Amino acid sequence: MKSTDKTKNTFAITTPLYYVNDLPHVGSAYTTMAADALARFERLRGKSVLLVTGTDEHGQKIQRTAESLGRSPQAHCDSVVPAFEALWEQLSIQYDRFIRTTSRRHEYIVKEFFQRVWNSGDIYLNQQQGWYCVSCEEFKDERDLLPGNRCSVHTSKEVEWRDEENYFFRLSRYQDQLLALYAERPDFIAPESRRNEVLSFVNSGLQDFSISRVNLEWGLPMPVDPSHTIYVWFDALLGYVTALLDPDSDPILEKALSKWWPIDLHLIGKDILRFHAVYWPAMLMSANLPVPGRVFAHGFLTKDGKKMGKTEGNTLNPVELVNKYGPDAVRYYFLKEIEFGEDGDFNETRFINILNAELANDLGNLLNRTLNMARKYCGGCVPNVLGENIEGDNLLKAMSLDLGEQVAGFYEELAFSKASEAVLALVRAGNKFIDVQAPWSLYKQGQIEGVEQVLYSVLESVRLASYLLSPIIPNISNAIYQQLGFSIDFNDRVTVNSLANFAAHAAWGALPANQTLGEPQPVFKRLELL
Ligand code: MSP
Repeated sequence: MKSTDKTKNTFAITTPLYYVNDLPHVGSAYTTMAADALARFERLRGKSVLLVTGTDEHGQKIQRTAESLGRSPQAHCDSVVPAFEALWEQLSIQYDRFIRTTSRRHEYIVKEFFQRVWNSGDIYLNQQQGWYCVSCEEFKDERDLLPGNRCSVHTSKEVEWRDEENYFFRLSRYQDQLLALYAERPDFIAPESRRNEVLSFVNSGLQDFSISRVNLEWGLPMPVDPSHTIYVWFDALLGYVTALLDPDSDPILEKALSKWWPIDLHLIGKDILRFHAVYWPAMLMSANLPVPGRVFAHGFLTKDGKKMGKTEGNTLNPVELVNKYGPDAVRYYFLKEIEFGEDGDFNETRFINILNAELANDLGNLLNRTLNMARKYCGGCVPNVLGENIEGDNLLKAMSLDLGEQVAGFYEELAFSKASEAVLALVRAGNKFIDVQAPWSLYKQGQIEGVEQVLYSVLESVRLASYLLSPIIPNISNAIYQQLGFSIDFNDRVTVNSLANFAAHAAWGALPANQTLGEPQPVFKRLELL
């Protein structure tokens, strides 16, 4: 699955809009780090990028949480949102829009969209009976419940019986159109296993679902019947549209959809796939609007092999993690160590071992020792060598020639782990190369040209590696680039985007001969298990 259409120069990507019933958890951080890495990669390639994130603030779950804390729902939401913004800042997440579903402009967009669906004749009143999981904000099939009427996602929570009059959305009407969409665009849902899951769900027959609630104040009023509020998922999915409004434009659908719609990629966790790959496109079809480019569902994180949960007492606090180890360590572990799309585990000892081995030793030490040699043997400058003049049988050059293209392909497939592995192979080869070539002996033998060729090759490999890893470890890449004598800041969105010439930077030989090198300093300090 490719993340982008190469012919397009814009790229819009979303994270889910997170519930504010609690502080951000590591699951929310996981999706957001992945979305940020992809957004950074596309910016590096010169695309105009819009990364949307935000918060989902209506519904029973939020209302109950606020009640239990003795706050009004709005005051509760207002108190939690800054924690999300602060965590994104700490994790070096560069979002372009942060949408809150309690914003006024969102209400206008929902109203207008609702009207279009209403005009299509797809909304009707009926009796809703069924088991509801407030934590999922979703009705559950009886056959999917665990013993004791518990939800299979929130295993400690009992579902609640509902029997009330609701407005329904005629999802059943869109079954054929949805199947046609999946057939025409095989990459609409990824990974493959998730696509198959959706296909079998839709093939087994779609039922209309209720899109209003009675006896629930904390929601947007139903335009045709204010005694109902709009179902939180109907409202939340539209947050993706509201987010596209320019800050100063009128809150009307036409404006929201004018530049960035359809969104290229919705990045989500596997538990909310049905909403994004079935309900959402059907709602858009009903409103006569184009559907998004793709939906990618990642797996779930476990801790020490166990499902994370408050009841199990083994949740992983992303704020503590980033305070302890810094943003790049956290980003690298989750994106490199876990195959994106599969479930993955967090274990602190493994976390520390991997970061020490790969970032502190393989990458950091390679740069450090080579810079020190460049000071000793080449006056603190990049050797007077042109990358193109290095012999073709030089192992590092040979490995680097198509690395940029290969890694770009992995990013496009959201295969962050494979992208990092491919880069790491070059770094490891750099370490071997320097040991085997032993520039210190060449120097003693007076073979200065040989020394220069070796040091240039290694410095250039480190540069290329840090450039290609910059979507994942932007701060380390910055430190490496600085020590190599560049003044590029990978956290400066505008500069990165305007300087973007991926083909040139991702190719062998972009390190200028004779460039003055910076002071050698560890780019990643070894971690200790605290
Ligand atoms: N509010 C909805 C999304 C609405 S989008 C219009 C929601 N919010 S959530 O805060 O509960 O979940 C957000 C994301 O976190 C989901 O993509 C979910 O998959 C992810 N995760 C929650 N727990 C997780 C793990 N343990 N591991 C990985 N991701 C998990 O759903």
